[in-house]
Amino acid sequence: MPQKNNAKYAILAVMAACVIVAALVGVKIASNIKAQIEGTTAENNITKEQGSELITDNTFISDYTSEEGSENITEESSAEEITTETKLSILERITSSKKEETTVKTTVPATSKIADSTTKAAQTVSTTVAATIASTTTTTTKKAETTTAAATTVKPKSDYEYAKYGFNPTPVRESALTGDGYLTVIINRDYCIPDGYVPKLAPSITNDPDSYKLDYRVAPHYNEMYLAAKKDGITLTPISGYRSYQKQKTNFENKIGRVMSAQGIKYDAAVVVASKTVLPPGLSEHNAGLAMDICSLEQSFDQSKEYKWLEKHAAEYGFILRYPKDKVNVTEIIYEPWHYRYVGVELAQKIKASGLCMEEYFSGYNAG
Ligand code: DAL
Ligand code: ZN
Repeated sequence: MPQKNNAKYAILAVMAACVIVAALVGVKIASNIKAQIEGTTAENNITKEQGSELITDNTFISDYTSEEGSENITEESSAEEITTETKLSILERITSSKKEETTVKTTVPATSKIADSTTKAAQTVSTTVAATIASTTTTTTKKAETTTAAATTVKPKSDYEYAKYGFNPTPVRESALTGDGYLTVIINRDYCIPDGYVPKLAPSITNDPDSYKLDYRVAPHYNEMYLAAKKDGITLTPISGYRSYQKQKTNFENKIGRVMSAQGIKYDAAVVVASKTVLPPGLSEHNAGLAMDICSLEQSFDQSKEYKWLEKHAAEYGFILRYPKDKVNVTEIIYEPWHYRYVGVELAQKIKASGLCMEEYFSGYNAG
């Protein structure tokens, strides 16, 4: 009997062992299925731990389209005008939220790394989001190429001293004048220099420290042009370069006085007439040190050999005739065959070849 009992216990033990093994296998299978459904396999965890390097799940999509989209793409920074800076800041925030979520301990990526992760992310998120990012990037690039300098301007100047006579200029950003934008920035009756802006100056003729001054980046080009003309027997005498705000104001007021006497009109009306010849203070390229009046202030200057030389060669040195005869209705400035603006050689040649004035060439200029 005891032998019979032993055999019975052995069978029971084997059965119990089978049940335990089967249960363990079942738990493991269930666990793997659950892990795959939730996307938390070991492999996937490694991907997530890379955090900023590769963003692979749907959180990115909802973050970008709802939370980030509505916060960052506002009237001020519309989808069309979103800047690279804004885009990077959105991505930086997305990246850092991913890091929190996955408790990744990495340092905040450098800008280039963010850009790099942008590309990778765009490859892995939905087509819609990828397309949004791509079109944003394209728009940003296009805008930079086709306008003078994105975000060149700030708000119209509310306290402008000639505002009551119809002048409501918008100051350009100082960075548009001190940075490379100085070549393309337009200063005219609609866009003025920022309050207190004084360019760094240099004499236009290097060997003559008393010669009229220009922005220090422009003066060497004037000097070069001056010397080249000299070799051809032409003297391009500078007669007015940089003018301070106060000097421009004096010139403007003097012009208003002359117009009042000559035309027998009141101050208010004379302001408008005078501004076609001398711009109000802050609205002149002379105030930015970007333009030179050469040789004469007579329109008959265009009959001179000096003018003929300029007509042929000024663009080779980066200067354009800023107020052409056939563009008076666009520039709202009289024909000034003596006033030359520096824009750099490449642009001067393009503008000259186009037959357009600066306002036309940069339609939508100073946008921002
Ligand atoms: N004479 C030009 C328009 C000026 O005042 O800048
Ligand atoms: Zn001038």
